[in-house]
Amino acid sequence: MSSSTATLTNHQVRLARRPEGSPKREDWSFTTEPAGEPAEGGVLVQTLSLSLDPAMRGWMNEGKSYIPPVELGAVMRAGGVGRVAASRNPAFAVGDIVYGTLGVQEYCLVAQDDIKRTGLVKIDLRAGTIGQWLNVLGMPGMTAYFGLMDIGLPKGGETVVVSGAAGAVGQTVGQLAKIKGCRVVGIAGGAAKCDWVVKELGFDACIDYKAGPAAVRDGLKAHCPRGVDIYFDNVGGEILDAVLAKLARGARIIICGAISQYNNTTPVQGPKNYLSLLVNRARMQGMVVFDYADRYHVAIAEMAGYLKEGRMSSREDVVEGGVAAFPEALLKLFTGENFGKLVLKIAD
Ligand SMILES: NC(=O)c1ccc[n+]([C@@H]2O[C@H](COP(=O)([O-])OP(=O)(O)OC[C@H]3O[C@@H](n4cnc5c(N)ncnc54)[C@H](OP(=O)(O)O)[C@@H]3O)[C@@H](O)[C@H]2O)c1
Repeated sequence: MSSSTATLTNHQVRLARRPEGSPKREDWSFTTEPAGEPAEGGVLVQTLSLSLDPAMRGWMNEGKSYIPPVELGAVMRAGGVGRVAASRNPAFAVGDIVYGTLGVQEYCLVAQDDIKRTGLVKIDLRAGTIGQWLNVLGMPGMTAYFGLMDIGLPKGGETVVVSGAAGAVGQTVGQLAKIKGCRVVGIAGGAAKCDWVVKELGFDACIDYKAGPAAVRDGLKAHCPRGVDIYFDNVGGEILDAVLAKLARGARIIICGAISQYNNTTPVQGPKNYLSLLVNRARMQGMVVFDYADRYHVAIAEMAGYLKEGRMSSREDVVEGGVAAFPEALLKLFTGENFGKLVLKIAD
């Protein structure tokens, strides 16, 4: 089914230059185009909400990574939830709610050949809200699930430490680890975030790293008396070193991200305490969530069940202002201003 979209306008944010350090407004350009109409087999999606992710900073850089960089002049890559505005594809009907790599723009025209690359799939809002589909049922939740379950291999009674604990990935890691019977210690910036993960999410403790390196060391000593069995690392840098110094024998470290290093203009700070891996017969392994795409449905079904049963909750931090608000909103991830999964609302 198709409806005419010939008169619709599409505001977009494009990568104008590769940033040095923290991205600036001049690193972006703003364009306006007709939304367009789908050709045979294609779909036009109206963006409703976009996922803002720390990984976006890496996609802006030149060089080899797990995914090609965003080209200069291209619409900035972003995952999002949208509504099908026009369709010439029998798998999608006008009004369907979908998830896909929609980009920082108000409309995403997807040709038939690009449907798979865009990862366009229908989602069911009975399983979770739009925010939750970008959070616990979306990419961050999949990262938490497969990082913890496949690499962390949690066993009941083990001690799990997770940094970025109040963020998108961290909040789900901690709650899932509790469900699996572990003792969970978060690390987050500030008393409000630490209080929330303990009081609302049920973590056993949370260390405020902004109180300084000694607070991290003392907190780990106090809350992990038998050492750390699993460390889910979202931040890298000094906190990774502090946790390395507290490993239990046979520990597993999931290298999920290193947000403390993403805006560096100097080389990435590597772990000084890596010989703790040797002493403790421990293992440190990187992960990229997209490798688990063929099993997302398993994680979604399990976590949608926890949400429904009230055993898991989620927090999203929704920024209003449409695509024009994107440059400033993205920076919140690096200052820690976001409290929960950062979402940019584009339309109702
Ligand atoms: N490997 C994968 O496939 C994959 C997939 C998704 C995400 N990730 C990674 O997972 C990590 C978390 O991503 P997310 O989407 O859940 O983001 P998030 O935690 O919701 O937001 C980022 C948080 O990082 C913290 N932060 C910022 N600068 C920091 C610093 N210098 N030191 C310590 N903490 C800092 C801030 O929290 P505080 O207020 O607590 O400082 C901020 O709220 C990122 O490293 C991301 O790249 C990896």
